Amino acid sequence: MHPALSQLEHSFQPSVLTQIDDPLLSEHNIELWLKRDDLIHPIISGNKWRKLKYCLDHALTVGADTLMSMGGAYSNHLHALAYTGKVLGLKTHAFIRGERPSVLTPTLIDIQQWGMELTFISRTEYRQLRQYKQHDALPGIKPNEYWIPEGGAQVLALKGIAELVTEIPVCYDLICVPCGTGTTLAGIIGAVPEQVSVLGFAALKSAGFLNADVDALLVEPSLHWQVNFDYHFGGFANSNATLLQFMSAFAQRTGILLEPVYTGKMLYGLYDLITQRHFKPGQRMIAVHTGGLQGNRGFKV
Ligand SMILES: Cc1ncc(COP(=O)(O)O)c(C=O)c1O
Repeated sequence: MHPALSQLEHSFQPSVLTQIDDPLLSEHNIELWLKRDDLIHPIISGNKWRKLKYCLDHALTVGADTLMSMGGAYSNHLHALAYTGKVLGLKTHAFIRGERPSVLTPTLIDIQQWGMELTFISRTEYRQLRQYKQHDALPGIKPNEYWIPEGGAQVLALKGIAELVTEIPVCYDLICVPCGTGTTLAGIIGAVPEQVSVLGFAALKSAGFLNADVDALLVEPSLHWQVNFDYHFGGFANSNATLLQFMSAFAQRTGILLEPVYTGKMLYGLYDLITQRHFKPGQRMIAVHTGGLQGNRGFKV
């Protein structure tokens, strides 16, 4: 790996496994552990570093000095990318969905302060940008510029995600992860031992595309995974009092903060399925805390 990235990674904290001590889990004879990727770094937290790591390595190897990407006004991906670019001494440029708001979101304020150039584009133009998946695919891109698709969703992300799986020192039956593009899910599916089931929780409504998208990312086909589409709470970044109350009660019982876009929905869904006795008793489960807590600034949590 490029020395600048190794040096950055040395400053990271370990992603520990925290067992969730909760009467509801004992009542159903379920053991639940959280893989705390939220703790690895205060800013480049969760699946962001995992997804970006080998992509940045490639960018540095090909001599890029500018990282380009896209995202919404609360994007965890852009937040992590802007900060990483600043630390690595690379320029960053992002296309932001929708008109420039009169008051910038806390996420946009941060990323601008870290030197990211922001270009606001219409939703139609934004949708068009989504088709460019390769680092050099963006029309008009210069040799020194490196394109990273929305959410950091590209094949090199899988290698970084696989590392979180290999860090898990215990045997387990099921591993859960929230899904946006499904890239994190695909990385996990490709890395778990054969007997482990993988369950993704879709954060978006009408996310049926995930089945085909995840399949397309897998190097070897697998039958041991599934996406649950029932806990999107009305759509991406939608939440309601039930979800927010669940998150706040969870934080009170465990001391672990969640956010309502991804991790809150995954754990709400997992708890709901456990309550419905969807899983065999005696199972050990791991849920990946994919971070994203900076996004909480957009919600009254
Ligand atoms: C905190 C958090 N969790 C989960 C995801 C979903 O990841 P993926 O797009 O790889 O499915 C994202 C988006 O990248 C995220 O920011």
